[in-house]
Amino acid sequence: MRDISVLEISGGRAPAHVAIIMDGNGRWAKRKGLPRIMGHRAGAERLREIVEASVRNGIEYLTVFAFSTENWRRSKSEVEGLMNLFRIYSRSEANSLNSNGIRVRFIGDRSELEPRVYEAMAKLESATENNSKLCLTVAINYGGRDDIARAAKRLARAAADGEIDPDLVNEGYFAAMFDTGFLPDPDLVVRTSGEMRISNFLIWQSAYAEFAFVDTLWPDFTAERFETVLESYSRRDRRFGAAAS
Ligand code: FPP
Repeated sequence: MRDISVLEISGGRAPAHVAIIMDGNGRWAKRKGLPRIMGHRAGAERLREIVEASVRNGIEYLTVFAFSTENWRRSKSEVEGLMNLFRIYSRSEANSLNSNGIRVRFIGDRSELEPRVYEAMAKLESATENNSKLCLTVAINYGGRDDIARAAKRLARAAADGEIDPDLVNEGYFAAMFDTGFLPDPDLVVRTSGEMRISNFLIWQSAYAEFAFVDTLWPDFTAERFETVLESYSRRDRRFGAAAS
């Protein structure tokens, strides 16, 4: 790992929370004449590099979109391949994540995952729970609308059981019920592969996020490329609805 980060060199400010839509694995594989799952494997390797770069650049929270509520529509073999990847990486990465002080958490609806997949995820979460250098949140079977609907259900249930006063529900109270209740809102949302849409990722949470859409396919998204995105973020003027100074 290098000692001096790109943001320190440029004098800019690092985003506390970066969220990434890791897109383009399939196209990357196709261009190389490989099966799609090889693109996902290459993508998982790239994620390791981006996690390390995040630590180096002082990012506190990194959230990545690994499987959406809509991704079940892919072929059975691709879905199975991805699930195997999540399970295998959850097991194989624990030591390295621990030695780098990285805590892993998962968001998304686990109730639809195979037991052996969510058990491996739960194990990794507890194995890394005391780490505090970076919180890596992996979204699996996650959809922004589903997150909001499940939060509404929790609130409705609590109100019906007399546990909460509906008059107390406001934005903050509602947001605390999301899967992301433990996270601050993302400062920067990055999407690779040239697509310019949010695809049901952190739709509520990214209300005031900055967006970076980059053409690079995810398996080619190097730490250097990531650092150019961070550098460009550090020059943006974020006003959160206020007038320019
Ligand atoms: C989108 O590319 C990518 C995904 C749906 C899967 C992302 C998963 C990884 C990068 C692996 C992460 C691994 C772990 C262990 C968390 P796409 O398949 O939609 O690409 P395409 O648009 O080119 O077809």
